[in-house]
Amino acid sequence: MITVRAPATSANLGSGFDVFGVAFDRPADIIRVERADETTIDITGVGSQYIPTDPDSNTVGAVVDALDAPAHIEIDKGVRPASGLGSSAASAAGAAVALNELYDRGLSRSELVPIAAEGEAVVSGTAHADNVAPSILGGFTIATADGVESVSTDISLVACLPEIAVSTRDARRVVPETAGMAAVVETVGNAATLSVGMCRGDPDLVGRGMDDPLVTPARAELITGYDAVREAAIDAGATGVTVSGAGPSVLAVCRDGDRRAVGSAMLSAFDAHEVDARVYQTQVSDGATIL
Ligand code: HSE
Repeated sequence: MITVRAPATSANLGSGFDVFGVAFDRPADIIRVERADETTIDITGVGSQYIPTDPDSNTVGAVVDALDAPAHIEIDKGVRPASGLGSSAASAAGAAVALNELYDRGLSRSELVPIAAEGEAVVSGTAHADNVAPSILGGFTIATADGVESVSTDISLVACLPEIAVSTRDARRVVPETAGMAAVVETVGNAATLSVGMCRGDPDLVGRGMDDPLVTPARAELITGYDAVREAAIDAGATGVTVSGAGPSVLAVCRDGDRRAVGSAMLSAFDAHEVDARVYQTQVSDGATIL
């Protein structure tokens, strides 16, 4: 039996839609795999009642097929589904790392990224790799059609998860199909700024580079109180705020030492809109670990 801890992640980071991602130190899914003739899946933990256990409908089923690795799989969910914190990706990433080890397939972490991304397609309709890449590799990741790059960095984060459900499928429907050149130019500049900030471990550059005129405004409409939460976080010291992944979590970047104030400001702002929420004070961290 192999057991893997696969962390929550935040994708997009505003300016890097479907490309950028970061791994958190918590929460995480725990995935246990054991060889079997037929694949069966047991799921416990947060939101487990909403996740299908049929391998054809579950994110890890596609990973089993891609690795030709039938197994009994136990998933203990620490990452709430439909949270914007890479819940399905954590399970797919953990399964890919665990099954690669269990069946001694010998694939590198980078080679496992497109395999785990197939699991994302089952859930959202698109095999985007921006959550599975950081959950597998850790750090700040840049996932493109040509492959994936990852950089370790030391950046403090606050993720505020409201009691609102936003499915990735629904959130992808509001993404504009076209973009004007001015917005594209602005986004490229911001994405480049963010990347440099990650490499330098500079929260001011990362926060500034998260601004996104293309996708985030449409997604913010799906999150009750988003503008107030964003403003409260900035007032409390956040250097940048955006929608985490497809939402509804809101991600703030801040300087070390400001996380508590930023988190409590975000909670109060959601509360003022009568939305219950919880906060994760976290930082960019390692990817999946074999326990
Ligand atoms: N890049 C994806 C999106 C991440 O924003 O739709 C969520 O799975």
